[in-house]
Amino acid sequence: MPDSDPSDDTDLILREPAATEGHAVHQLIARCKPLDENSVYCNLLQCSHFAATSCAAVMDGDVVGFVSGYRVPPRPTTLFVWQVAVDERARGRGLAKRLISAILQRDGNRDIDHLETTITPDNAASWALFEGLARQWGADGERHTLFEREAHFAGAHDSEVLYRIGPFATPA
Ligand SMILES: CC(C)(COP(=O)(O)OP(=O)(O)OC[C@H]1O[C@@H](n2cnc3c(N)ncnc32)[C@H](O)[C@@H]1OP(=O)(O)O)[C@@H](O)C(=O)NCCC(=O)NCCS
Repeated sequence: MPDSDPSDDTDLILREPAATEGHAVHQLIARCKPLDENSVYCNLLQCSHFAATSCAAVMDGDVVGFVSGYRVPPRPTTLFVWQVAVDERARGRGLAKRLISAILQRDGNRDIDHLETTITPDNAASWALFEGLARQWGADGERHTLFEREAHFAGAHDSEVLYRIGPFATPA
C-alpha cells in the first residue's frame, strides 16, 4: 500500500521499497553526491530486511527518492536515518521531509519517538533538512561527534556528527 494519497501529488508515490528496487536505489545514490556509495547488496538488504523503516518515492516508474533507516537495536523507538537521496529532478518540493514523515506515519512505526542521523559538518542541505524537521515537530535537537576523521576513518573521511531529534509525537 502506498504511504501517501497519490492524488496529493499525482506523479509521485511514496511507499516501502521492494527488494527488486535495490539496484535502482544504488544508481540513485550514485547520482546524489556527496553520499557514500554502498554495495548493491547493501541496498538490497535496505529494500528487503529494512523496508518497514525505509521509503521510496517513485515517479513515472523510476525511483527518484529514497530514505534508508532502521530502529537502533539498543533503543528500538529511535529511527536511525542512514541516507536520504532525492534525484535532482524531484528536489525542492519537500520530498525529503515527506519521505521521512511517511516512515513515521506507518501503523507499525507510531511508537517511534526519536530520530537520529549523522551529518558531515559541511553538508548544508542535510543540516537544513534535519534542523527543519526538528523545528516542524517542535522537538529538541542534540549533536555530538559520533565518528571522528582520525580515530574512526583513518583520515579518509570527514567526521560524522550525530544529530538526535526528540522526543516527538508522530507527525501529522
Ligand atoms: C538533501 C536532499 C535530500 C534534499 O532533498 P529535497 O527533497 O530537495 O529537500 P526538501 O525539499 O524536503 O527540503 C528540506 C529542507 O532542506 C532545505 N534544503 C534542501 N536542499 C538544500 C540545499 N542544497 N542547501 C540548503 N538547504 C537545502 C530546504 O530549504 C528545506 O528547508 P525548510 O525545512 O527550512 O523549508 C537532496 O538535495 C539530495 O539528495 N542531495 C544529495 C544527497 C545528500 O546530500 N543527502 C543529504 C541527506 S543524508
